[in-house]
Amino acid sequence: MPHHQTEQSDNKIIDLITLPIAHEDIKKYYEIAGMDYQAWSEALNMHFGYLERWTDIFSLEKMLNQMSQMVIKKLQLADFSQPTALDMGCGMGAVARELVRIYPQARVTGITIVDSQINYGNHLSQNENLHEKVKIIKNDYENMSFEDNSFDVAYAVESSCYAQGAGKEALISEMRRVLKEGGRFVIIDGFLKKPAKMPYLLQKAYLRLCRCWALPCLATMTVFEETLKKNNFKNIKIEEISWKVAPSVAHVPRVTLKFLFQELWRNKSLKLAPERWDNIVSPLLTMFLGLWRNYFGYYVVSGEK
Ligand SMILES: C[S@@+](CC[C@H](N)C(=O)[O-])C[C@H]1O[C@@H](n2cnc3c(N)ncnc32)[C@H](O)[C@@H]1O
Repeated sequence: MPHHQTEQSDNKIIDLITLPIAHEDIKKYYEIAGMDYQAWSEALNMHFGYLERWTDIFSLEKMLNQMSQMVIKKLQLADFSQPTALDMGCGMGAVARELVRIYPQARVTGITIVDSQINYGNHLSQNENLHEKVKIIKNDYENMSFEDNSFDVAYAVESSCYAQGAGKEALISEMRRVLKEGGRFVIIDGFLKKPAKMPYLLQKAYLRLCRCWALPCLATMTVFEETLKKNNFKNIKIEEISWKVAPSVAHVPRVTLKFLFQELWRNKSLKLAPERWDNIVSPLLTMFLGLWRNYFGYYVVSGEK
């Protein structure tokens, strides 16, 4: 097939598996279900974990922290004397706080579009006396208010999935604009491997996952890589880490049961808002989708401006 025809049919496939999600949907989901992440992680790590050593397999919180530490290590902050970092989609700031614990001379600006994350995230930083080093503010990573060349490094931990498009074009071009020359980035997330028609049930499960977590679509790796290249990023490195992430995903049923028992004990009922049920369903769907390794993978992507 000629190139433009392949591109057209890829776009058709991608359109079928993209939902019309607006910022209001994302904000509503996090405002209602956001605090339920406490059942997943004491420190409010809103991401999956990374297994460094097999002996850590039973310690979820340790694996969650190891994910943050892996991202921080890949940013190679020792190369900068007083690094300025941008956390694009920072949640409650768990990764940002870990960064300044490891590199006290660094300063992190965390951005999110969710008001409660700004208030509670900054409160958590204050509790640890890290509020001078980590500032969480409201900003849209697809249209940032920062000047060009503002940051030494930028990272997105399980947040790029909220950006529009299979290549997350606006996020990538904004990231390029605000990074300094030679600045580094690290993005970790679940990805679709390539544009491919899914079996009916798989597609249904995938769309349900996106709806539950208020995501328009996961990025498609082939398109994402192309977008990074078009934006002239150098030394692009793409590593699949699905097997390192799977042990933390295996904790989902245990955490789900614990959460449901706690809710039942506290409120004597399981009448939860739909968004809170969605937040229970989507991690369970992740376990199912993760088995389809031809279609889905968990990746760490890094590079330099
Ligand atoms: C799954 S949470 C991950 C939070 C954090 N990175 C962590 O690992 O704990 C996704 C985050 O992306 C943020 N987000 C979604 N769309 C965004 C946008 N357009 N601009 C900035 N942040 C956004 C959400 O508000 C949320 O904080």
